[in-house]
Amino acid sequence: MAAPVLEVENLVKVYERRGQPPVRALDGVSFAVPRGEIFGLLGPNGAGKTTLLKVLATLLRPSSGTARIEGCDVTVRPLEARRRIAMVLQETAGELLLSVRDNLLTFARFHGVAAAAARRRAAEVMEKFQIAAEAERKVQDLSGGMRRRVQVAKMFLADTAVLFLDEFSTGMDPILKRAVMGFLREEAARGRTIVLTTQILSEAEELCADILILNRGRQAARGDLNTLKLLSAGVADVALTFAALPPGVEAAVAALAPLRSRLDGNTVELSLKAEEARVLEIVAGLARMGRVLRVEVGGASLEDVFVELLRGR
Ligand SMILES: Nc1ncnc2c1ncn2[C@@H]1O[C@H](COP(=O)(O)OP(=O)(O)OP(=O)(O)O)[C@@H](O)[C@H]1O
Ligand SMILES: [Mg+2]
Repeated sequence: MAAPVLEVENLVKVYERRGQPPVRALDGVSFAVPRGEIFGLLGPNGAGKTTLLKVLATLLRPSSGTARIEGCDVTVRPLEARRRIAMVLQETAGELLLSVRDNLLTFARFHGVAAAAARRRAAEVMEKFQIAAEAERKVQDLSGGMRRRVQVAKMFLADTAVLFLDEFSTGMDPILKRAVMGFLREEAARGRTIVLTTQILSEAEELCADILILNRGRQAARGDLNTLKLLSAGVADVALTFAALPPGVEAAVAALAPLRSRLDGNTVELSLKAEEARVLEIVAGLARMGRVLRVEVGGASLEDVFVELLRGR
């Protein structure tokens, strides 16, 4: 079998700051990603996702452990590793003083794309991302969402083996986001390997073949969606729509200590970890509180899995 494109072994990153206690942002993370796969890194704020991507992208040195991109160790051969990757950072910047077009061209040239081809691809990509009208404007003068587009557009200018995307969809409108998800799937199908972080679980659910849930710098869970769902077996999603929201229903839901709950108009949504019979009992109990127009009971979503796996850690 071909070696994985990305190999991470026992990676540790401790941030040391004078006068402050050290922060162990990565505490022994290991995984491998084969060519052409979309790998998802999930986890709560501060879990270590950005730190991990920065180490992989050679922007930060790990305290210990190794990471290799197509066999290139990121600490031993950082420049060679760097040439194999393209990255969208969470705190997106871009070259603020350069125009949109020059941002794209500079990136393509760094990755060895010939000048004429770079110009052609830049034009195509600007079309795709609907930023052609901004081509000559400096990135610093663009709106946040437009800057994000420029940053993500760069990913498609050179055929780097690996793409790292840290919350790529932040600030993107839903239509563009849909399109970009399609572009990412196409890139993966062409053999590029993608690692992305997201807080939007439906994104991971749709895109990622394999998901690693990080918590406090360690792996909390790992697997494809089905495996993760099995790990939190027994979680059910319930939605009840009342003709009018009965008084006391909020308190009744809270008393059930659901994994999560939400009130949306006359609809009550909750996720519960309980035996099936108990779930039905609970639904029946809530339904007695008012006139019910609609009831839905479903299996766990990735969001339930996430909450369940991280609860009490
Ligand atoms: N430059 C730094 N110096 C010191 N500590 C840092 C630094 N950057 C991150 N940290 C700490 O390392 C931990 C991991 O942070 P990181 O940014 O990797 O988390 P994250 O999973 O990306 O979170 P988010 O979902 O909020 O983006 C946090 O405790 C954070 O405070
Ligand atoms: Mg982050």
